[in-house]
Amino acid sequence: MQEAKLKELLDSLTWTEKVGQLVQLSGDFFHSAELAVGPKKKLGITQETIDVVGSVLNVTGAETTRNIQEKYLKNSHHKIPLLFMADIIYGYRTIFPIPLGLGATWNPELIEEAYGVIARESRSAGAHVTYAPMVDLVRDARWGRCLESTGEDPQLNADFAKAMVLGLQQEQGEMFEGIASCVKHFAAYGAGEAGREYNTVDMSERRLRQDYLSGYKAAVDAGAKLVMTSFNTYDGMPATGNEFLLKEILRDEWGFDGVIISDYAAVQELIAHGVAKDEREATLLAMKATNDIDMKTGCYANELEPLVKAGAIDPELVDEAVWRVLKLKNDLGLFEDPYRGSTVEQEQRTLLTEENRSLARKVTQESLVLLQNKNDLLPLKPNEDKILLVGPYGDEQDLIGLWAVHGKSSDVVSIRAALEKELSKENVAFEKGCDLLADYQFLGEFGATKEQIHSLGMTAEEKEIALNKALAAGKKADIIIYAMGEHTMQSGEAGSRTDISLPTIQKEFMEQMITLGKKNILISISGRPLTLTKEVEQMDAIIQAWFPGTEGGNALVDILFGKVNPSGRLSMGFPENVGQLPMSYNEFKTGRPLNSSTHRGRFVTKYLDSPNAPLFPFGFGLSYGKVEYSELILSTKQMTDELTVSLRLKNISDYTCLETVQLYIQDVTGSVVRPVKELKKYQKVSLLPNEEKLVEFSLQRSDLYYYMKDMQFGTEAGEFIVFVGKNANDTQQAEFELM
Ligand code: BGC
Repeated sequence: MQEAKLKELLDSLTWTEKVGQLVQLSGDFFHSAELAVGPKKKLGITQETIDVVGSVLNVTGAETTRNIQEKYLKNSHHKIPLLFMADIIYGYRTIFPIPLGLGATWNPELIEEAYGVIARESRSAGAHVTYAPMVDLVRDARWGRCLESTGEDPQLNADFAKAMVLGLQQEQGEMFEGIASCVKHFAAYGAGEAGREYNTVDMSERRLRQDYLSGYKAAVDAGAKLVMTSFNTYDGMPATGNEFLLKEILRDEWGFDGVIISDYAAVQELIAHGVAKDEREATLLAMKATNDIDMKTGCYANELEPLVKAGAIDPELVDEAVWRVLKLKNDLGLFEDPYRGSTVEQEQRTLLTEENRSLARKVTQESLVLLQNKNDLLPLKPNEDKILLVGPYGDEQDLIGLWAVHGKSSDVVSIRAALEKELSKENVAFEKGCDLLADYQFLGEFGATKEQIHSLGMTAEEKEIALNKALAAGKKADIIIYAMGEHTMQSGEAGSRTDISLPTIQKEFMEQMITLGKKNILISISGRPLTLTKEVEQMDAIIQAWFPGTEGGNALVDILFGKVNPSGRLSMGFPENVGQLPMSYNEFKTGRPLNSSTHRGRFVTKYLDSPNAPLFPFGFGLSYGKVEYSELILSTKQMTDELTVSLRLKNISDYTCLETVQLYIQDVTGSVVRPVKELKKYQKVSLLPNEEKLVEFSLQRSDLYYYMKDMQFGTEAGEFIVFVGKNANDTQQAEFELM
């Protein structure tokens, strides 16, 4: 529709119709009149609002969305189609690894391709908008939503944010092939105090801008059509009513003119936060901060019109918000085709194709991180050893993690299935050996009934039998593979934990099994970095597998048997213990560094009972091959606008390697304190056996920019160190001066 006509449409709407566009309700309001009685009552939503509501939350499927749209449009005076928005975070039906695993690929181009698949599948299923990417920078593994983030680093997060938005939207000029991306949760949701879900964020503006905003900014710059607010407070004001975040930074500085949507019920939660006394005040705060859509509360529906009528809100403000929603609908082409080509047949043709599966397999291969490989135990040779697979995740299809809400575990290739495909019968056996958890009571909090909880887990007798069977089978094996990890519900939203080691029941089981003296391999399934300190001692090899998705089993077997050489690198360091958290390689310098030349012993920055260093640093990951790095060569020692850092890589192994070369800098002296290291560049370099390659990084002056003392984004002349290496803790360095 032409903009002039869209404007006419806006002008022709009544207040109720305008407000409707700014309200988002869940599917239960549309499925049946009866069902709507409960939630309708609770939110104080009238049928009049439902008839003019602008968007629907988390309803997908070609048939369902078509039905709802059709019925809605039939009754609609102006024929403004509904927008279907949903949480499609790392896969619709073909499920990719969780984003923390995607971060470990260090391969944004590949992830852009993956999000293209996600967009096509989602579109075929009637979704118009996805609440992705989630780009909250996270440095505290206690937070359950590590799972949804690509990790701890501003540069890497920004690169992935951009890749995901481009992949989802598939924009070509004015045309919009994919679905609209809603970047979330703005802002700094990942920095909640003590890693506790929904907790307060209070940090300097400098740190906010320097580290935490980079992902959102990259997504907005890449054209993300929507932004979702976060649940947390920033500097005393919850994000949904925070004019500094939404108006000053997002709208005015960044020029974002798309739709801002509150997170689930976040408008109403302004009351619980204690910054609004009732729904009217909450509405006023959110509206003034330019939050356009109210997700799932009755605040806007019931309070916006009275506020305008009382002169408390400028009608212009409401018109602007409605305009942004209408424009999004128009950009998506909904006025021409309210279904955007989604039909049941199209959906069937698009979901979970062989092509999609094969891309998922490739992405999963690159997401797996080899953390340990003593005496080069891996890769295994098929049918050379007798393998026993044990553990709760061995024969489990639930490998898709908490936020793959539209995926199906039944599509997943389990580790057992993949191993049995690979090996002859006599060389592979499976025994569960132990349960995932000793106690499933916590599932009650997520809606499980007492009966469901009771039906889970093993009795003491079953436990004993399972252990004995595993021990007996273990005696006959050469190698034991342990598929262990967190319960799906232990990470993700509302999944904060203070003990982030493997569940005790699993640790006790491993303790027993290692007495057999076999070779031991751990496959660690988790939504966050775990403290694997004990396992590092016990295991010969460890593969970090995240929740690996639909092709999880296949990709793991590809790695175990060396069909693919592991190339994943951690995008979030793994702590030695939970007491180190929050932590990041990118930390500020202190006056008394650990290796201080002036201070010794006790009086340096350290713990008395733990190293400062993580168990596995940011950027860490092993390969089966070996790649040597030559010395660094700088094109100049005195940089004005540009500097080239080059080195030669040599693969001195018989494996093809995908080596992730990482470049960090340190600004030695600044007008404010600078981090010890900051990732600036990286390249994933493919090397055939014995191949040698020249790698060049070009550093621009703007790569050295930061928020200086006066909060200007720039850089100052002086000494810099450039580090290049395999991970944040294994680098070589050279110095240069910025002129
Ligand atoms: C989450 C969001 C999500 C929304 C809608 C909230 O609880 O924080 O990430 O998009 O629900 O499902």
